[in-house]
Amino acid sequence: MAHKIKCLLDKISEAALPAREDIEYILSLEDSLSLQRVFAYADILRAETKGEAILLRAIIEFSNVCRNRCAYCGISKNNRGLLRYRLSRDEIMESVSRLHAFGIGTVILQSGEDPCLESAWLVSVIEEIKSRFGLIVTLSVGERSFEEYALWRNAGADRYLLKIETANEALYRSLHPEMSFARRMRLISELKSLGYETGSGNIVGVAGQTIEMIAEDILFFKKMHLEMVGINPFIPHPDTPLAHHKAGSSLMALKIIALTRILLKDANIPATTALAHSNGSDARKDALMAGANVLMLNFTPEKYKAYYTLYPHLIRESGPITGYKDFLTELAATCGRSIAYTEKALREQVCA
Ligand code: 5AD
Repeated sequence: MAHKIKCLLDKISEAALPAREDIEYILSLEDSLSLQRVFAYADILRAETKGEAILLRAIIEFSNVCRNRCAYCGISKNNRGLLRYRLSRDEIMESVSRLHAFGIGTVILQSGEDPCLESAWLVSVIEEIKSRFGLIVTLSVGERSFEEYALWRNAGADRYLLKIETANEALYRSLHPEMSFARRMRLISELKSLGYETGSGNIVGVAGQTIEMIAEDILFFKKMHLEMVGINPFIPHPDTPLAHHKAGSSLMALKIIALTRILLKDANIPATTALAHSNGSDARKDALMAGANVLMLNFTPEKYKAYYTLYPHLIRESGPITGYKDFLTELAATCGRSIAYTEKALREQVCA
């Protein structure tokens, strides 16, 4: 058995495009000994390509206004009870200066698909962050036109996150009313063509999703040569149509993380915040030992954090910002790893 799994993982690792059945076989494994082998295999690859340090990124959720009605998402337009907010430019800069002082080298600017987001305003925010702080800027503001993506890229944005959520068209359509799967696919390719380091990812364990579909997601990550892949177990939100559905399994999310590492050796794979909330315990440390190498810290001003409810915040994922240092020290100790605040620090560690 041990030998069989090792051979299969070697085959998957070396293939230009692995067979879907091989991926499905690994995704179907249940016994803990086999799973430990899969996770250890991914962990070794992660150590070789990304080093021992957990790479930090900071996220600012600058608007929770959204025009979409994604069935799983708590900031869906259909959620009329939610208080909506938009950070001013000054509030964004205050948060950026805070995370810069903390030592983090990358900021992710994320929002719902806010129809009032003006492209020129975002250009000036990107330019100011670049000129004052010299940070790597990642955008995650959803579907916009090619021209806007180009504009922001020219203004200095380095990376873009646009999740496919599922690579299965029928499931995509059932979760995303009024949205187009073909358009989503096209936009991800356009982001790549503009020279963004591009991230995508999926949501795991929504009703109707099968092992075959998950295998297709993983093959999609590979075919797209993604630079970043975020994997979220589904967490039911009480004010959505999926309120009474079962949560996605964090174990399944870990298997997907491990396989993603095995297929995309070099990708940056976060231990996502959703993993901190699913199935009752914080599975981020397990993810960091099964192929993940990145951790996101939330620098949204405290007074707005409670309103960016993609899923219910059952536990405060890392406590208030003032407690992040202690949280990191404990996490690094549990995983037996160090912390890299910037990509430069990470490179220096890998080369040392
Ligand atoms: N459970 C897990 N992940 C979710 N997201 C949104 N709602 C949920 C939920 N209920 C994820 C989606 C989205 C990202 C920002 O958050 O994958 O792309």
